[in-house]
Amino acid sequence: MRAGITVHKDYTISEIDPRLYGSFVEHMGRAVYSGIYEPDHPSADENGMRKDVIELVRELDVPVVRYPGGNFVSAYNWEDGIGPKEERPVRLDLAWHTSESNQVGIHEFSKWCDAVGTEMMLAINLGTRGLNEARNFLEYVNHPGGSEWSDLRRRNGREEPWNVKLWCLGNEMDGPWQTGHKTAEEYGRLAYETAKAMRQFDRDLELVVCGSSSANMPTYPEWEATVLDHTYDAVDYISLHMYFENYEKDTARFLAKSKVLADYIDTIAGVIAYVKSKKRSKKDVYISFDEWNVWYHSKKRDEATLAGEEGWPFAPPLLEDDYNFEDVLQVGCILNTFINRADVVKIGCLAQLVNVIAPIMTEPGGAAWRQTIFYPFYFASRFGRGTALKLAVDCPAYNTDGIGEVPYVDASATHDGEAGTLSFFIVNRSESETAELDLALQGFEADAILDDKIIVHGDINITNTAASPDVVKPEDAGDAAIGGKGLTASAPPLSYRFIRLQ
Ligand code: AHR
Repeated sequence: MRAGITVHKDYTISEIDPRLYGSFVEHMGRAVYSGIYEPDHPSADENGMRKDVIELVRELDVPVVRYPGGNFVSAYNWEDGIGPKEERPVRLDLAWHTSESNQVGIHEFSKWCDAVGTEMMLAINLGTRGLNEARNFLEYVNHPGGSEWSDLRRRNGREEPWNVKLWCLGNEMDGPWQTGHKTAEEYGRLAYETAKAMRQFDRDLELVVCGSSSANMPTYPEWEATVLDHTYDAVDYISLHMYFENYEKDTARFLAKSKVLADYIDTIAGVIAYVKSKKRSKKDVYISFDEWNVWYHSKKRDEATLAGEEGWPFAPPLLEDDYNFEDVLQVGCILNTFINRADVVKIGCLAQLVNVIAPIMTEPGGAAWRQTIFYPFYFASRFGRGTALKLAVDCPAYNTDGIGEVPYVDASATHDGEAGTLSFFIVNRSESETAELDLALQGFEADAILDDKIIVHGDINITNTAASPDVVKPEDAGDAAIGGKGLTASAPPLSYRFIRLQ
């Protein structure tokens, strides 16, 4: 099959906000305890943080990490995580039916963020709590000193405020599973008043209001219309979440689901435009896609813990999806969708980062390794910066019931003006045909191939494990050729390609 891809230097979508490649660490399962934090681990630093994990997170170059939840945040008392560790309370976490030791809180997490070179994106509890606790937390985190909460922070060892700019107004408040779930009206009012109070403290904060937990929610997309009706002029982003599954083991259908994602984004972009004009507003609201990933491999294994059959364990394995090669392709298509909608999606958080539906896995006391999905995220995060380019893709397509038509070749491209590089991220969804890629590079003078990578494996179910961590990994493809007006390369059936030119 021939796949023609045309780019033009002046035919752009948008500048990419680097925070499109953010991630997420929730206090649940082994994300924090024995994930990022394990004081007894041989690699632990002076703060008890695993250096082997820090190194892997640094590789991903994640610009922002959302914290501390997730469902967890909807019953979280941020004050439990400050002060002397031995005095911190153990709490029952209702969201995941586990116990929380609070040995990690805002101070420890911020030190970890410094170590990995990322910024904090903090979520406040609008489930069991409200405006008052949010403003206290904000004062603790961002006020220099001379007030009750800021002075407490200083006494707790942090002299300078953290100046966190990006705040989530709760989590998935449309979900009946959420502790303190609310209707769109109830949440819209609360989110507006909380945003208003937070802006009274600092009008330059960036605030994220909760949108839908998935495109399958019965309240979607009316939820967004109602919530934005209350909050439009007080917030900067509306959050969306989406997880992908392939229970049916239907690869073609699974890989077509990024079209559902694209439709979801388009619909909410439409809702935003509708509310903007209804309010005659001059400002823009963008999408923060702050939870996304494949999530289904481990769901059965978690049932007993979530049903409470194991009591209230501390940091049990939860949501530990073992990602396979097929998931590389899906994550590649998801990232392509975000790059191709970089005009409306400004923030993205791969959910999550360590152990819990994560690109990085650890053994307590043992190894840390890269799951298969580490790699498409790595390429996009490292090289998908700069300007997103509009692509004209000319190749055969296939049809999937209820989803519609998707091209066999899924692609995105970015131009990094500073580095003078042009990057292509390409997935061949075809199970049987090689895609002969023919890339026309209009207005570019690229003549050197910096990277010509491929991820491919004969077994779509193969995974990386602690014992065999490198089964699925990028290899040099070696067949990209540049000349004349463009580039040629091939993408075998079910393969991921990353090509970077200068
Ligand atoms: O990321 C796992 C969970 O998925 C989060 O806690 C919640 O926000 C979502 O439902």
